[in-house]
Amino acid sequence: MPNKRQLIIGIHLAVHGEQDKKGAMIEEQIAFAKRAEAAKLDFVFKADYLIAHPELIAKTKGTVGLDPNFLLALVARETQQIGLVTTISTTFTPPYLIARQLQSLNWISNGRVGWNVVTSIDGAYNFSNAPMPSSEERYAKAAECTNVVQQLWHSHPSEILEANGDLEKIKDLVKPIDYNGEFFHIQGPLNIPMHPAGDIPLFQAGASEVGRQFAATVSNAIFAATPTMDVGIEMRNDLRKRAVEAGRSADDIRLLPGLYFFIGDTYEEALEMHQQAHAHLTLERRYAALVSVIGLDVRHLALQDRVTVDLLPPEDQKVRSKTHAHLVRRYITENEPTVEELLGRPEVIGSAHLVAIGTPQDIVQQIITFYDKGAFDGFIAVPGGPAKSLDLFFSDVIPMLVERGLFRADYEGSTLRSHLGLDVLLSN
Ligand SMILES: Cc1cc2nc3c(=O)[nH]c(=O)nc-3n(C[C@H](O)[C@H](O)[C@H](O)COP(=O)(O)O)c2cc1C
Repeated sequence: MPNKRQLIIGIHLAVHGEQDKKGAMIEEQIAFAKRAEAAKLDFVFKADYLIAHPELIAKTKGTVGLDPNFLLALVARETQQIGLVTTISTTFTPPYLIARQLQSLNWISNGRVGWNVVTSIDGAYNFSNAPMPSSEERYAKAAECTNVVQQLWHSHPSEILEANGDLEKIKDLVKPIDYNGEFFHIQGPLNIPMHPAGDIPLFQAGASEVGRQFAATVSNAIFAATPTMDVGIEMRNDLRKRAVEAGRSADDIRLLPGLYFFIGDTYEEALEMHQQAHAHLTLERRYAALVSVIGLDVRHLALQDRVTVDLLPPEDQKVRSKTHAHLVRRYITENEPTVEELLGRPEVIGSAHLVAIGTPQDIVQQIITFYDKGAFDGFIAVPGGPAKSLDLFFSDVIPMLVERGLFRADYEGSTLRSHLGLDVLLSN
């Protein structure tokens, strides 16, 4: 039924292939996207970082450099309905180029594109010798940038397709935007018309105070790290409240955390998959990760010593991500864990995503609980384990969610806006 509330499910396009076979990796990602489409997922998702350091190269098996817009253009040709969410940084990319790239991809895919707006935490050194701007400045720039991008899209409306070379009509429809702001001075119009599917949905990754405000004001969904149910409930309520304060409806902003999954036939098998995935992390890497996340060095403590609240460094120092820092500080405050426990936490050693470990039934139960309690509106699945884990996600987890009426058995449309229910009001 069209208006029944259902889960929104995206999946991070991941690879399991060998690092030395770039071509095979691209084929693998296309095949992956086809499986996601066969499962009727809302979208495939590609993160992107404009940096290259050894840890990142190891973690992503060398795929990090592939421009997601190009990859998704290929995926678009091989799929028909699934949404394609790409990542572009507003800190490093000029809005005219962003507007054009996304609109091009929207034409190539026939209206299936979403934009994951990121402000990035690193990489300024690849663009100039200026230091990385503060989080506040990056979000102020992101707000201006997305506004300019949207204005540029509308500066060249889809009605132009019926202008048939009529110069007067063209002049009437395609107009400069003459934008003059703090960061950008842009005349416009954009050189490509807007696809008739309408505005490209915005996703935002990052969830600090200023990040949430940005998401609640302009985004359709937020990709955030919510490692526990409480964090999810608090964040979702907060985002909904902020959306209403910004003059939108609470349902206009969807919280879609990462769901980092390890699925096995038994819980023990899944746990083993998780341990395998993190076994390469040395103690020194774990210590260093903690320093970069909250600025706390625990090398002088014994592994069984407790990390107590009084050890926490002041909150106002410069950290890589305020979101991650907040989560780790909160974990320490609430649990006073041992050094060993702290260095095993997912938000310290890797992502701060929600980690799901277990049998397909376990994962489905966890998803239902989070959804029922209002801890998320859906999720972006991040496959963590070996191929078997992903196989079980498609063969068991998704069908069980469909059976329970929590997820679609088939697509109702073929644009991302339609999958996300963004056009329901218009068509009613
Ligand atoms: C779940 C999640 C995914 C992210 N993905 C990306 C990414 O693909 N590329 C990137 O440059 N930054 C990425 N970021 C970084 C954010 O864009 C942002 O710069 C950072 O999180 C700081 O903002 P915050 O304090 O609001 O979290 C991501 C952040 C989060 C929390």
